[in-house]
Amino acid sequence: MDEGKYRVCPVELAGSLDNRFRRWFQNPQKILGPYVKEGMTVLDLGCGPGFFTVEIARMVGESGRVIASDLQEGMLQKLKGKIAGTELEKRIILHRCQKDRIAVSEVVDFVLAFYMVHEVQNQEAFFKEIGSLLHPLGQVLVVEPPFHVSKTAFEETLRIAQSAGFTLVECPKIPLSKAVILRKG
Ligand SMILES: C[S@@+](CC[C@H](N)C(=O)[O-])C[C@H]1O[C@@H](n2cnc3c(N)ncnc32)[C@H](O)[C@@H]1O
Repeated sequence: MDEGKYRVCPVELAGSLDNRFRRWFQNPQKILGPYVKEGMTVLDLGCGPGFFTVEIARMVGESGRVIASDLQEGMLQKLKGKIAGTELEKRIILHRCQKDRIAVSEVVDFVLAFYMVHEVQNQEAFFKEIGSLLHPLGQVLVVEPPFHVSKTAFEETLRIAQSAGFTLVECPKIPLSKAVILRKG
């Protein structure tokens, strides 16, 4: 297996994932507004330092939950520091997953996998596991970076997701991205 191909974004680069510049061209409210509603349970997979998690927590409101899941404890700690002492703390569950297992036990209404699927080695097992924890009417937003994920690699990810039981719903236009919305069945 070519480990380098699946290199995980280091914690030292967390600052480049959460800043004002990014918010300007990838506004979480604009991107997620059509899909994330009050009261939902949302899984932010590969949440990193929580650029999307914090806004999702605002969008789901007091009755909703965000499971912020990442492989790296350092990323979860950055997010923990950001929400400490705020009202959002109660809505965000920090979850450390394993390299080959998400291991979330709750049923979720929406899954966000932003700029992370190319870091997952076994995408087949990954999508099957997402299918097992997604609500029957739930949706998954997969977003990949435009340059180091080629058109061919993205199409391969989509093929794997489809063979794991997902159907393509739409291809939302998100700046600096290749993106798809998937549903089960
Ligand atoms: C490029 S960062 C993107 C972070 C965040 N989604 C964003 O857009 O700001 C990718 C993140 O995915 C995490 N990651 C990589 N493989 C993972 C896996 N198998 N399960 C969970 N998280 C993973 C990394 O630790 C890293 O924090």
